[in-house]
Amino acid sequence: MIDRFHRNVTYLRISVTDRCQMSCTYCTLQEEPKETLTADEIGELVKVAGERLGFRKIRLTGGEPLLRRDLGQVVRNIVATKEIVEVAMTTNGLLLADAAEELAQSGLRSVNVSLDSLDPLRFRELTGAGSVSQVMEGLRAAKVAGIPRRKLNVVLLGGVNDHEICDFVRLGQEEDLEIRFIEHMPMDDARLTSWRVDPAQIRQQLVDEFGELQPIAQDKNGGPAELSLVGGVRVGFIRAITSPFCDRCNRLRVTADGKIRSCLLSGGVLDLVGALRAPVEEEERAQLLMGLLRTSADAKPPVYELQREGAIPMRQLGG
Ligand code: 5AD
Repeated sequence: MIDRFHRNVTYLRISVTDRCQMSCTYCTLQEEPKETLTADEIGELVKVAGERLGFRKIRLTGGEPLLRRDLGQVVRNIVATKEIVEVAMTTNGLLLADAAEELAQSGLRSVNVSLDSLDPLRFRELTGAGSVSQVMEGLRAAKVAGIPRRKLNVVLLGGVNDHEICDFVRLGQEEDLEIRFIEHMPMDDARLTSWRVDPAQIRQQLVDEFGELQPIAQDKNGGPAELSLVGGVRVGFIRAITSPFCDRCNRLRVTADGKIRSCLLSGGVLDLVGALRAPVEEEERAQLLMGLLRTSADAKPPVYELQREGAIPMRQLGG
């Protein structure tokens, strides 16, 4: 689907639950968690998006997606639409060790695991639950199960984890992982300034340790990460603040309470549950869903607005 600013929207991120075991310092939820869409409804939505509107990639997010018992079924319902060429998940990894096998067999091809510190105490301080070793077990299980792409998401927090950069790359070498260093986005959060990091300083740490970064060329439809090879590891920087990538944004988001958002931070919200549960024939429902996805794509703003009134926490948006 081409939007008003000539971006080809092919990527749908679906938050399958607002629940999460963790309460990360920069990502907590004030409201009651929600989890609205059933596995069948997600399947129906993806079918319309893939078959009729050109969507090609789905990411399952949360909250924590693995808290859903039926996540394997969700993945199977998604891959049933053959136009979908990539199904990925973003997770905190705590329950991955047990789930990896079923997810791999269901068709999950890529997993992003959030891990902001390798120091056991700091990890616990940041997350309030789980442990680094639990996450590592999950990552290893994903490898053994045959999930081909495994990435670490590291949100950079100045003074908290910005001296662990090289440790993350070494972990990437040892465990065959890609690393994504993500700039913290101050959603409804006033702590931005104390956590800000200087991207040049981060790069310098890597150069000093691993030598010059080797940029990896990306096509125009590549994701937001600026990719380089660092010590043989694919390392990406996601710089939503110092280098916004809205001009390349190809995604819509579905929230856990069943709404479509056209942008992480602005661009309006549309009710999806109503359409999915409309008591009409499948074809008519498909038309309703197409209309909603189309309207949402057309509402995508050219650039996001940070710290707008009414910004909602990342946990409700699925990152
Ligand atoms: N800024 C940047 N990244 C964030 N994430 C959660 N909150 C923020 C934020 N405010 C990350 C998580 C996870 C992904 C879904 O989004 O760490 O890896």
